[in-house]
Amino acid sequence: MDGTTILDGYTPVNLEVLRLDRIPGFDLYIPGAKGMVLYREKNVIFTFKNLKTLLENNVRYLYFKNTEEGKYFDYIENNLPSIVKDNKVSSEKKASLIYDSSAHLAQQLISDPDSKKTIQKASKMVDTVVSFTAAGKDAYKDIIRMLPSDYYTHTHCANVATYCLALGQVLGLTSNSGLWELTLGALLHDIGKIRVPQEILNKKGPLSREEFETVKQHVQWGMEIASRTRSVPHASMPAIAQHHERISGKGYPFGIKEMHQFGKIVAVADSFDAMTTNRPYAKARSSFEAILIIKTQTTEYDRNIVNALIEVMADKKAEVKV
Ligand SMILES: [Fe+2]
Repeated sequence: MDGTTILDGYTPVNLEVLRLDRIPGFDLYIPGAKGMVLYREKNVIFTFKNLKTLLENNVRYLYFKNTEEGKYFDYIENNLPSIVKDNKVSSEKKASLIYDSSAHLAQQLISDPDSKKTIQKASKMVDTVVSFTAAGKDAYKDIIRMLPSDYYTHTHCANVATYCLALGQVLGLTSNSGLWELTLGALLHDIGKIRVPQEILNKKGPLSREEFETVKQHVQWGMEIASRTRSVPHASMPAIAQHHERISGKGYPFGIKEMHQFGKIVAVADSFDAMTTNRPYAKARSSFEAILIIKTQTTEYDRNIVNALIEVMADKKAEVKV
């Protein structure tokens, strides 16, 4: 979140995020001399007058109880299109809200992948993200800058979706030509992991042959889940179905060489994120190191997509400049 102190049990909300004349749906608190004081109840409209008074008193943040985090994310999700269009909200703030909401949504998708409502929310979210990044050149870099370095399945899905969105744009895809379908597929690419036992997913040591066979099944399980909901367009499916395939034919589950472009893009984004985040069995590598590894595996990854990754990452950190 922001660089403000997170008081025990409470999370700050920047005032610029609160929409005027709307009901927040979660209680808002303000720090007082003896701790947090209730400022507005959840069903009271937040007005321009409220905002003005707070700003005149140098208040920039209100707080919500961590127990109401779900309500906060519902509010952000519902209001994200309006926040993204608001010139008063900084691009960094928009990027951080987009990322946090996408990761939260990915978590909901993973815990309840059969929920049509959640998949519909995800497609709406992808709409907002695509229009945010299409509006400003390189806007995706604001999101990439805030990707977390610790691995969780839901943050991995949000990270891979961000990289795919960026790669798709560099490769010339637009919202009318597959960018939306690619990003949604990328957000769902590991949804089949819901069926892989946690003890296998979190295992610190190397996997046994049998365990690896179970992990590999997440691709088919993901395809099954995604096709069953009917809210995932057919065009997004290769992102899920082929993210572990390799152009050498040595990938899984099908071992195909002729990969769909979305499969090739997600394969690069997935490997790059896996290498640059801390996993139970391996420490995160730097972006530079990960790019070098992917770049040398010329028989595995599509060269155009690796070049696009280099372009995307070129100014994230000085050492990535190739
Ligand atoms: Fe996967």
